[in-house]
Amino acid sequence: CWGYSDAQKKTMPSEKRIREVMQQAYHQFKSSSGGANASYIPYLANVDPELYGIAICTADGKVLELGDSKYEFGIESISKVFVLALALQQRGARAVEDSIGVNATGMPFNSVMAVELDPQRAVNPLVNAGAMATNSFIRAPSSAAKWMMIDDMMARFASRRLSVIQQLYASETATNLHNRAIAWLLYSYGRFYDDVSEAVDLYTRACSYGSSTRDLAIMAGTLANSGINPVTREKVIDAALCPRILATMLTEGLYDNTGSWIYHAGVPAKSGVGGGMIAVAPGKMAIAVFAPPLDKSGNSVKAQKTLQYIIDELKLNLL
Ligand code: DON
Repeated sequence: CWGYSDAQKKTMPSEKRIREVMQQAYHQFKSSSGGANASYIPYLANVDPELYGIAICTADGKVLELGDSKYEFGIESISKVFVLALALQQRGARAVEDSIGVNATGMPFNSVMAVELDPQRAVNPLVNAGAMATNSFIRAPSSAAKWMMIDDMMARFASRRLSVIQQLYASETATNLHNRAIAWLLYSYGRFYDDVSEAVDLYTRACSYGSSTRDLAIMAGTLANSGINPVTREKVIDAALCPRILATMLTEGLYDNTGSWIYHAGVPAKSGVGGGMIAVAPGKMAIAVFAPPLDKSGNSVKAQKTLQYIIDELKLNLL
């Protein structure tokens, strides 16, 4: 099941066309302004706001890059997608739906209110509450063993081993009181499944991975290619899980701005407060963009513009 189906081949743009559109987007948005770096995590506030990278990974394994595509930045919430992949692979799609939840919260990514309103329903794996619960849902004999499982999964998606940015991890750990409160609240409702402090720590550590735009394109490219890494051709997760993961991105990938994003772009995407963003056109390609300044929902302003442009020009809108 690797490569394109006949139907996809017909609508798959050429490499030349993809490159041309990437370059147009890069030049059009390079000096566009708007947004501000995340300020609540000191490390992120100090990243150069001018950095800008684009990378595309096609389902047949071509990786095209532009700008600061090799610069490593905090993966942040984009890690939630791949930790979810691990939980789904280990526990199954039904168990994740029942024990975590898959509905939209319609609230900010760190909302306590969403948990309080309905802990049974309103905890999507891509918001902080649901992501910490998802982490707690992975079974492992110890916290160290769980970290190994996460680290291996990230490496298989990225086709190289990622490293935690220690300074970012320290910065996040010193400022994650709000997340700890959310996790304890979930625990109080019986919706947290492992030691609270350890699971929150692993969540925080996973958010602190350094990843380049290129890495993210390949990771997302694996989701575009039914769970097979298009570069290494290794099967990373079951094909049947990809639609479940992409569904959570369609529902909650840009938090309380997801509806507007899907209304215009029509492609599942996920953002992180480090300024990264991925979008997946199943069977065709994945696009990753990095530019640190964020809108008020925590999504990169320039990445959204760039992705929208590329999606429109390459006719990737699914809807
Ligand atoms: O837990 C947090 O708040 C951060 N480590 C990650 C949040 C995040 O990336 C939200 N995204 N746009």
